[in-house]
Amino acid sequence: MEAPHSPAADVTAVLTVHSPDLMQEFGRRLAKLLRPGDLVMLTGELGAGKTTLTRGLGEGLGVRGAVTSPTFVIARVHPPLTGGPALVHVDAYRLGGGLDEMEDLDLDVSLPDSVVVVEWGEGKVEELSDDRLHVVIHRAVGDADDDVRRVTVSGIGARWAGEDLAALGA
Ligand SMILES: Nc1ncnc2c1ncn2[C@@H]1O[C@H](COP(=O)(O)OP(=O)(O)OP(=O)(O)O)[C@@H](O)[C@H]1O
Ligand SMILES: [Mg+2]
Repeated sequence: MEAPHSPAADVTAVLTVHSPDLMQEFGRRLAKLLRPGDLVMLTGELGAGKTTLTRGLGEGLGVRGAVTSPTFVIARVHPPLTGGPALVHVDAYRLGGGLDEMEDLDLDVSLPDSVVVVEWGEGKVEELSDDRLHVVIHRAVGDADDDVRRVTVSGIGARWAGEDLAALGA
């Protein structure tokens, strides 16, 4: 007999990314799955490649402005060039208080109409949405090539239940 599906089970893809260019390319592919209102959380140590991935997301979504590390701002809005969703790129590293502070940022954008991508958001922005895509980037420890990254993509919530994330790794 087939095991019953656990509603809590994540849909997960695991892939190996060998260069910054390929990380950006992965971002462009991932962007094709994203819709207005989606929350993407990026986890990984300093220099893991979170912003590099977001750059590819911005290209794939077709938004205005270069995606960079927002050193002095916590969030940057990239408006759509082609009628798709805006990209809201958040660096929550210095965001102490979590969501309240995020709302105080008074971003001139509607989050339900945007794709929100958050670096360093664990424990801070989960309440933004019941559903989220969680991307974890690790340097491949022990790998001779310092550019190799292991990427795990997990879809959390009903939004992601029907998406074929495994195809991302193909
Ligand atoms: N496979 C790879 N994928 C992504 N970046 C890579 C890869 N290999 C090497 N790099 C390099 O690692 C660095 C990643 O920087 P990036 O700003 O994207 O990291 P980050 O996770 O956003 O860091 P921070 O936590 O400081 O915001 C870049 O210098 C990039 O060229
Ligand atoms: Mg970054």
